[in-house]
Amino acid sequence: MKTKKKKLVYAALIAIMALLFGIITLITMMPVSAFAASKAITDDSVENNASMSTDVIYQIVTDRFVDGEPSNNPSGEIYDKNNLKKYHGGDWVGITQKINDGYFTNMGVSAIWISSPVQNSDYIDPSNGCAPYHGYWGRDFFLPNQYFGTMEEFTTLVSTAHSKDIKVIIDFAPNHTSFAVYDGIKQPNDGALYKNGELVSTYSNDAKGVFNHVSDQWAEFDTWEHTVYAPLFGLADLNQQNAITDQYLKDAIKVWLDAGVDGIRVDAVKHMSLGWQKNWVSDIYDYKPVFIFGEWSHSATTSEPNMENFANESGMSLLDFRYNTAARNALANAMTSGYTMKDFHNTMMDMEEDYDNINDQVTFLDNHDQSRFMTEAGNNKLTLDIAFALQMTSRGIPCVYYGTEQYMSDAAGGKSDPYNRADMTGFDQSSRAYQIISKLAPLRKSNPALAYGSTQERWLNDDVYVYERVFGNNVVMTAINRNQSSGYQLTGLMSSLPDGAYYDVLGNLLGGGNITVNKGVVSEYYLGAGQVAVWQYTADENDAPIIGNVNPKMSKAGNTVTITGRGFGNSVGSVAFDVKNAQIVSWSDSLIKVIVPGGVTGDVAVVVTTSAGVESEAFNGFKILSGSQVSVRFKVNNATTYYGVNVYIVGNVPELGAWDTSKAIGPLFNDTPTIGKYPTWFYDISVPANTKLEYKFIKVDGAGNVIWESGMNHVYTTPASNTGEITVNWQ
Ligand code: NOJ
Ligand code: NOJ
Ligand code: CA
Repeated sequence: MKTKKKKLVYAALIAIMALLFGIITLITMMPVSAFAASKAITDDSVENNASMSTDVIYQIVTDRFVDGEPSNNPSGEIYDKNNLKKYHGGDWVGITQKINDGYFTNMGVSAIWISSPVQNSDYIDPSNGCAPYHGYWGRDFFLPNQYFGTMEEFTTLVSTAHSKDIKVIIDFAPNHTSFAVYDGIKQPNDGALYKNGELVSTYSNDAKGVFNHVSDQWAEFDTWEHTVYAPLFGLADLNQQNAITDQYLKDAIKVWLDAGVDGIRVDAVKHMSLGWQKNWVSDIYDYKPVFIFGEWSHSATTSEPNMENFANESGMSLLDFRYNTAARNALANAMTSGYTMKDFHNTMMDMEEDYDNINDQVTFLDNHDQSRFMTEAGNNKLTLDIAFALQMTSRGIPCVYYGTEQYMSDAAGGKSDPYNRADMTGFDQSSRAYQIISKLAPLRKSNPALAYGSTQERWLNDDVYVYERVFGNNVVMTAINRNQSSGYQLTGLMSSLPDGAYYDVLGNLLGGGNITVNKGVVSEYYLGAGQVAVWQYTADENDAPIIGNVNPKMSKAGNTVTITGRGFGNSVGSVAFDVKNAQIVSWSDSLIKVIVPGGVTGDVAVVVTTSAGVESEAFNGFKILSGSQVSVRFKVNNATTYYGVNVYIVGNVPELGAWDTSKAIGPLFNDTPTIGKYPTWFYDISVPANTKLEYKFIKVDGAGNVIWESGMNHVYTTPASNTGEITVNWQ
């Protein structure tokens, strides 16, 4: 009896195993097209978290949004709902409620950026009476901020968001902890850094060298170098070149990646070395392909070469501060700035030159560090409505600051921080601004011209800007008249829209009407005072495959990347990275997932070929690193120069310019007391791990003339992980 039963059990087990084996073989044998046919991840899918091209982001100051769980509110002096510098009680339960009640979904918002979730210092900053309700004074980056909620509440927020096709982006501040010393006064928390509750170090008792120790008195942000190594307003400045700090920050972010986040907004990137950040970003992409964008604060429409170089080289995108200033100048501050729509267009064109991938930068009208747009616009609602229509149809990924869609302006008593961070005033879904976003945000998902298209001006004067976004056969044309007292006859307006009649996507919310297009000529159209119209054509088919984006924007052999665009077809073709073909993971008409092939490094051209043999144009400049990265501090002593001459480094891997002096890394720094002062020069650079590097330093004058070091190449084998440092004498 017994044995018989056993035999039966065995038979059943074998049957189950055979079944499982069958299923597994079936899955592994299935042609890739079967994946596409089953549940294809499309370019607008919440599962494609490497890219946010089709998303509209909504920025939330967690503490100021919704208090969904009063029992977790702090007690004592850090909490006061009537004081904008203290905690107000907003939390993850509150945000989850708003995800569930459809506030974001109905607006078309498909990504939320929330305050840094990590545990913060519990102290008031004596210099300004502020509590860390904003999340920027990290204490333990491995633990949740208990006033925002528990880890379980955090993961519930993420899974709830995902169930509604909403991505979650966290703010993260690897530059610093909390206040240590300011104006010579030691602060109560002493910048303490903890790991899962255990003390790692404090600023004034830092035997491990976890922090940079340049005096805050030195901290004039007159050069980029000073900005990188000095404390930001006395916040204890983390020394990312320290192996403990480097590992801490690499491990800490994984806590949040494991909790399911889809994106990271990196705080204060201007204040950390490009090299360390590139190595950190690369480590993140190795772990999980998410969308990363940094904050390089800049308050002008003009170029800042260090910022643009960072956007092009660091592997992350940036918040688009030049766009922000341009939009505020052209609309909110038109009177005082004297800035016209022509100026706006010119800034857009300049920026296309300065950025390798302008479509991947994150645009915004206002944020938590500047006065609200409405305040600047003198509380003119129509001005904001026009600005939203502009932003939603511009190149770049739009981000809406919480409450701006409810016409919030700065709270009574002042401008900017903290008056720009008042409690959310309400959740009215009928506000015109909310309506405008809810009409245009979904268009960013359905018509790829908004996510990936080029920008072309079609009609322009000081007040009127008509521009088209075009991607393949897809077109979105937007007509804006910022002048709220007079209209313009748009004579001679041309368009790429195919022949036909078009209605205003905004449904006349801003006075837009219909047009007809005949052989590229638009019917006579009168754009009234303060009016905006948006017309669009979404193509069913595209003449050829066309690549919109490749994400993450930096990769290495073996990593999976997504190629988004249109016209790839529904059966599997091929993808080449320069001369190497990639292994295809999945394939649909708008999204291909591939594994980056070995044997190609540097700035690479990506080409998609359909199964019918039609090739896309090359998507150029995709970055393939030569391996896992480590951040190495290269130092050279005795490199004396004349005024105007700078020192660079160039070497045998793409990360060091592959011996091309026009791609040499630098200019090196030479003015940090604790690291290196002229004639010593130094730089922190992301280079392949466990690799024998050959390199030389070069001197370059203002005219670009190069003087090489003499002698043999320097040779250095990089560490297998973490950070390295190598010092040589100029030869
Ligand atoms: C920039 C943030 O946006 C700002 O709010 C913060 O105070 C500083 N970085 C320091 O973290
Ligand atoms: C590149 C070479 O490979 C390197 O060894 C040499 O020092 C420089 N060019 C300058 O000639
Ligand atoms: Ca609360």
